Amino acid sequence: MAAEPRRKIVAGNWKMNKTVTEALALVRELRGMVSMLRDKVEIVVAPPFVSLYPVAKAIEDSNLKLAGQNCHWEASGAFTGEVSAAMLKEAGCTYVILGHSERRQLFGETDETVNKRAQAALKAGLVPILCVGETLAEREAGRTLEVVERQVKGALAGFGAGEVASFVLAYEPVWAIGTGRTATTAQAQEVHAALRAQLARLYDGGTAGQVRIQYGGSVKPDNAAELLGQRDVDGALVGGASLKAGDFAAIVKAGA
Ligand code: 13P
Repeated sequence: MAAEPRRKIVAGNWKMNKTVTEALALVRELRGMVSMLRDKVEIVVAPPFVSLYPVAKAIEDSNLKLAGQNCHWEASGAFTGEVSAAMLKEAGCTYVILGHSERRQLFGETDETVNKRAQAALKAGLVPILCVGETLAEREAGRTLEVVERQVKGALAGFGAGEVASFVLAYEPVWAIGTGRTATTAQAQEVHAALRAQLARLYDGGTAGQVRIQYGGSVKPDNAAELLGQRDVDGALVGGASLKAGDFAAIVKAGA
């Protein structure tokens, strides 16, 4: 039997933007703009923690899904400032973004902590969106594939093929995030294909064929179609352009 084609997944990472009131306004506008796409493409929004529950209510019975931007590896306890995977799940999340480069660069996230968070996420019934990506210095030193493959291997340590098949990876070159400088379609496709080949080596071809790999880094309405048209690019993880309903809806439509 032929494998199901991978459904594209476009997610908006709002980062530390939008108050609850602003988040509700944005998501209500977006909901109307993408409703006609139904389930042609999976659409995810990742607002800050305080807006998750109200946004979950505002997107009930819609084709939008919710993601947290991080979660802790412990189930509960004395971890001031952290949020558990079960809390995200109960607040209405389907996904959780883990290992974003901003968390790695600014908050000391490592491959090991990303792995621990991913294990907690899965245990709570959340699907991890695991982010990997090289810095400009690493790319210029010809180390791109070595870096992203190390990050993938670290994040997936201990997981079995059946678990990994549902995961989402996000390739986000650090030099393309928030800079307006996008990877070329060839650069994105090269890394995505390498990651899929790595998944086939770590697990098997069937699993590698099921994992969706998003591209992130200055995705905009005018470059989305070309990026999403690449063979191994299964979606987008959108930062800045996800803060405007019209721009994000246009990117989502490029994936439909
Ligand atoms: P930008 O789309 O603003 O470059 O951000 C990408 C990103 O980091 C998404 O997680």
